[in-house]
Amino acid sequence: MKRITPLPTTATLATLSEADRQADPNWWRQAAVYQIYPRSFADSNGDGLGDIKGITAKVPYLQTLGIDAVWLSPFYPSALADGGYDVDDYRDVDPKLGTLADFDEMAKALHEAGIKLIADIVPNHSSNRHKWFLEALASPKGSPARERYIFRDGLGENGELPPSDWDSVFGGPAWERITEPDGTPGQWYMHIFAKEQPDLNWSNREVRDDFLKTLRFWSDRGVDGFRVDVAHALTKDLTEPLLSKLELTREGQLEDGFEDGSHPFWDRDDVHDIYAEWREVFNEYDPPRTAVAEAWVHATRRARYASPEGLGQAFNFDLLQANFDAGEFREIITRNLAEAKETGASSTWVFSNHDVVRHATRYGLPQGTGKHLAKQDGKAWLLAGAPAAELDVELGLRRARAATLLMLAVPGSAYLYQGEELGLQEVADIPDSERQDPAFFRNKGVEVGRDGCRVPLPWKVEGTSFGFGDGGAHLPQPDWFSKYAVEAQDGTDNSTLELYCKALKLRRELQSGEELEWLETGSPDILHFSRPGGWQSVTNFGDSAVDLPAGTVLLSSSPLQDGKLPANSTAWLR
Ligand code: GLC
Repeated sequence: MKRITPLPTTATLATLSEADRQADPNWWRQAAVYQIYPRSFADSNGDGLGDIKGITAKVPYLQTLGIDAVWLSPFYPSALADGGYDVDDYRDVDPKLGTLADFDEMAKALHEAGIKLIADIVPNHSSNRHKWFLEALASPKGSPARERYIFRDGLGENGELPPSDWDSVFGGPAWERITEPDGTPGQWYMHIFAKEQPDLNWSNREVRDDFLKTLRFWSDRGVDGFRVDVAHALTKDLTEPLLSKLELTREGQLEDGFEDGSHPFWDRDDVHDIYAEWREVFNEYDPPRTAVAEAWVHATRRARYASPEGLGQAFNFDLLQANFDAGEFREIITRNLAEAKETGASSTWVFSNHDVVRHATRYGLPQGTGKHLAKQDGKAWLLAGAPAAELDVELGLRRARAATLLMLAVPGSAYLYQGEELGLQEVADIPDSERQDPAFFRNKGVEVGRDGCRVPLPWKVEGTSFGFGDGGAHLPQPDWFSKYAVEAQDGTDNSTLELYCKALKLRRELQSGEELEWLETGSPDILHFSRPGGWQSVTNFGDSAVDLPAGTVLLSSSPLQDGKLPANSTAWLR
């Protein structure tokens, strides 16, 4: 097995030629990765849905932005019961999005622009339209076709009750009853997410082998790495009697798993046997394919996913869940850098993705975090549990820009979500009739769901769907999208887009080593650190302007005030 050695601490990415950067097996360690949610990025054929050709047409934009890699959310055939995370066929492109030939063309264009490609892979569950699931429904109880999923008899006299009282992540029971081929009410299948997402049975060798085939299929087509969806859920211990909901929520750990790995379906120790096999496949390639786990597990157990013998990297969602607070940020950064050192992985940082309220909006709400906007008293600008308050758009954006600049200076890979480079806010007021997220429907509208961060991007200040395509947009775009459009920001001094472009370019030049040293600031509201080579970042989390340390200011997230760093701002110096 090839060992992955860290970059020499003195090498700066800027000293590597483009060809060396592409061939570098460590390219991912400090990469800026831009997440594309393909159905909402750019629509080339005017059907209201973003597509692969739309992405290819925007490669020059991505190149100017200065990212190192694209992470493509699912683009596979799907009925979109969960935004594409319900996959009908793991080795094809959704005909609504294009063809395999379009995919190859996109991969080539990205590579020619020096951009790597990371594909989202969804191993925990297929869709209920996958040929395996259709075969399971048509086959008798106990058949090999049923063994690819998790079927159980129901409880109660006639099997009319679900095998356990577990809830699915999107609300409602985690079991769905089927009708047997002879028309009688039958067995139940497990689905941790929507009922259209039946969980695969990872103790079945056939399932494991099929995924190895899928990994090779995309790696052979030039995919450089994989983002592994709910990586902590694959293996299950369903020894009966199944634990009750009450037992599973002990210490409030239902959604994460138990610290000792004994939860029946989250974060079990034996899940890593799967990733050890995947690693062997990744290492068949040169450079080895990379992987990053989406694993919402205890911080103490994350390292297992990030091991070089496993996936190699795991998302840490700590900053994404934190308040805009100097103390919280410092503790999270320190702890995660130390953890990364232990495993040999590099840290990952992220503020926004397709599952959470955009950070420009979170930071404009009263302190207190939450994954989703909730509706209360007719107002949608509320996080679950937060007191009623209006969104402060200006403050939110200001803090988001400061936080992002700080993140881009921290060692590790930075994950950016499409639209954050425009400073986009969450769209909170999507009419119920136009919502798509199963989380909204299964929770009977209590949870607004994730559609608000998935609204198609505005490219132009006016015109049909703000330049997203020649037709409409599959989720409604509000009028205020106009002022966030790429066209409005491109070349405009101090625009958020210009800030991202400058920061990403500078980051590539300044990045060296993986060390960070905290410097004394004398204030609990100011964070100051340096990186090898003299690169420094200062963030003022407080509410008044402060003096900057000595050095040349390279970039700041908001204009300096008489040479001082304003409140809610970050500056880079050397
Ligand atoms: C992950 C995805 C999310 C999806 C879920 C089920 O958490 O990020 O969008 O709904 O998995 O696949």
